[in-house]
This record gives sequence, structure tokens and C-alpha cells, in this order.
Amino acid sequence: MDFQLAILCLIAIGLVLVSVVEPRPRKFKRRGRCQPKMLAEYNLTFYGDWSPKTFPRLYPRVRPPAQWSKLVGRSHDSTYKLWSLGQNASDAVKAFAEDADSSMLDQDAQAYRGIFDSFTAAPIESGMGRSAVRFLADGQHTKMSFLVKIVPSPDWFVGVASLDLCHNGRWRKQINVDLAPLDAGTDQGFTFTSPNWPNMPADPISQITNKKPSHPASSFFYPEQETLPRIGHIVIKEVAEYRRRGRKLDTSPTGPNVVIFDPEEDEDDSYSLNIGGLTAVSGSTGTGNDVVNNGKPQDCTVTEWSEWSPCSKTCGFGIQTRSRDVILSPVNGGYGCPRLTDQNTCGSMRKCKWGHFDYLFKRSG
Ligand SMILES: *[C@@H]1O[C@H](CO)[C@@H](O)[C@H](O)[C@H]1NC(C)=O
Ligand SMILES: *[C@@H]1O[C@H](CO)[C@@H](O)[C@H](O)[C@H]1NC(C)=O
Repeated sequence: MDFQLAILCLIAIGLVLVSVVEPRPRKFKRRGRCQPKMLAEYNLTFYGDWSPKTFPRLYPRVRPPAQWSKLVGRSHDSTYKLWSLGQNASDAVKAFAEDADSSMLDQDAQAYRGIFDSFTAAPIESGMGRSAVRFLADGQHTKMSFLVKIVPSPDWFVGVASLDLCHNGRWRKQINVDLAPLDAGTDQGFTFTSPNWPNMPADPISQITNKKPSHPASSFFYPEQETLPRIGHIVIKEVAEYRRRGRKLDTSPTGPNVVIFDPEEDEDDSYSLNIGGLTAVSGSTGTGNDVVNNGKPQDCTVTEWSEWSPCSKTCGFGIQTRSRDVILSPVNGGYGCPRLTDQNTCGSMRKCKWGHFDYLFKRSG
């Protein structure tokens, strides 16, 4: 008797549990996916591995000793390239690789639509050491590129180009990359401390190996070795994911690694616009009011989306918008117009005065 009662109780508790727990999996099913309006936060740690033990040749010890410039990076889409092997360095990359001057790179970061978050990490004042920074990517900007100048050097740097953080539709949890020295191709110097000697015309960006450049004066010339040891490496770890919650501000306590997803927003929810009767809004080449209407239904027609506006925030989370216009408004019962404005979440992990997680998102431990 007691036994049966116990079983019944267990079943009853089970039912309660199931009914409490059941809706959650639906909410969480998109975790890990790199979708357009999903943000992922990553921690990029750069490690300098440039020691006199592994790179004894001409190892710079004074004026200046071996060190690393600040790290300059961005998350971006596939329309943007910070640098690529086999391509000429841009003026901005040249200035950075030669003089650790990032002013042009900083300007670039404002000018290119394909950039999502631009970030920097502190310089390292010796050949060995580490520096970390957090940054954001979203489902439309899943790539990451960065540069760190080798100091001193004519125009050498390390970095990655267009590394994709999204793999098979999911954010990668961790990425490790070993770094080799790269030559920006804009200066001819062979040694760490070569005087400035412009390379005219410039060569494309190339990897420096233990045999290339094949010159006994080259600082990385170790022909007896199989390959160069790594001069640095990076570890990129996913810290958290975020999804926009409508337009609501959410200041709940935060914790790592868990995201609360809202039910899917209905992106193209149609609604009707009432733009004065039969007037057609034509494009710039339009001939005016040329709508012939014989009482037939005419559906609303809209332009393509505009470009996304710049992000409303340069630190923390912000909003960007895009819009489209009505070309033909609906008449005689034609389909109404789709939504004409669209919002996206954007931002960076740069700290703002008000601290860094208190905007727009819910995330909980
Ligand atoms: C790089 O620049 C040189 C001259 O400045 C030019 O001849 C060459 O075609 C360029 N290479 C690429 C890959 O654009
Ligand atoms: C990033 O990760 C490194 C290594 O785990 C850690 O030491 C560092 O504090 C983290 N940095 C930031 C800015 O989160």
C-alpha cells in the first residue's frame, strides 16, 4: 500500500517537474548558434613567446629591448579585410607595421561598415608576456582579425586574418592559433634594428620563415632548423552569448555562459501603411504619378533595406537601424507594406563609465 502511494507521489512530482521544466528547452534551443541577431562575447589572450632561448639570433636587448606593440583588432564580416597574406598592406597597416602608429587603423574602424567591434589590448613590454581583451561578434560579423607589431622591427608583425569564429552555424568555444612573424612588405630591412628603408614598390604581405628571406643577415635566418618555433600564440575563448530582448532594457544580475532567449521575434510582421490613396512614391528617376489603376489590387512595394546606421554606442551595447521606403502603396485590398525599419544590436566590450553589462540584455547564471 505504502509502496503504491510512494509511486503515485513520485509520478505526481514527476508531472509537476515536467510541466515546470518543459517550456525551457524551447527557449534555449538556439544557444550556440551564430544567428544574425545573436551576439557572442570572446576573450582574446595574446601570448608573446619571443625569448632569447628560442630566438637567440640578434635578440634585441636594449634600445629598445624585444617587446610587443598594442594589439589592434576587429570583428567584421566578409566584406572587410584588415590584411591578407599575398596582398599589399594598406597605408593603415603600413603605418602600424612600421611605426606602431595606429591612428589610421583607428580611423578605418569608424569608416568601414563591415566592422562590428574594434578593440585593442595593451602592449607587452618584453618578448614574453600576455595581454587580453574582450570583444563582441554577431551572426553577421563572425570573423576576427588583429595585428601586433614586433618591436623593434622594420615592418614585422603577427596576427590573424579573417579567422571565422562561427563553424557549422555555431560559435566556436575555443580557438588556439600559433603565430609566425609576418613581413608587411613595405620596408626592406632584414634585421630587427634595420634603419627605415622603404621598399619601392612594396611587396605583398608574406610570412617570414627560418629560410625566407634567404639572407644570412636576416634576423630569423635559422637554416639548420626545420621551422621557426612559434613567436607568439593566441587563445580565444567564448565568454557569453546574448540575444536582444525586444526594446526592453534589462538590468538583471549577470553571470557567465548562459543566455536567456526571447521567443523568436516575428521579423517581417506585415502591417498596412496608409499613404494617401493612389499616390505612388516613385524613385529618383520616377516619372511621378504614373499608377494606372483599374480597380485591381496592388500590393505594397518597398525598396531594398538601406545600409545599417553606425552603432549608437561606442562602448557597451547599442542599437543600429536600417530602413526602407514605400515605392508603391497598396490599393484596392493589395497586401500591406512590411515593416519599414529594422533594428540590430551592436556594441563593444570597451568599458563605459556606467559599467559594462547593464544594457539591453538579460543573461543569467
Ligand atoms: C602591390 O603593389 C605593387 C606596386 O605598388 C603592384 O605592382 C602590385 O600589383 C600590387 N600587388 C597586389 C597583389 O595588389
Ligand atoms: C581573458 O582570459 C585570460 C586567460 O584565461 C584571463 O587571464 C584574463 O583575465 C581574461 N581577460 C579578460 C579581459 O577577460
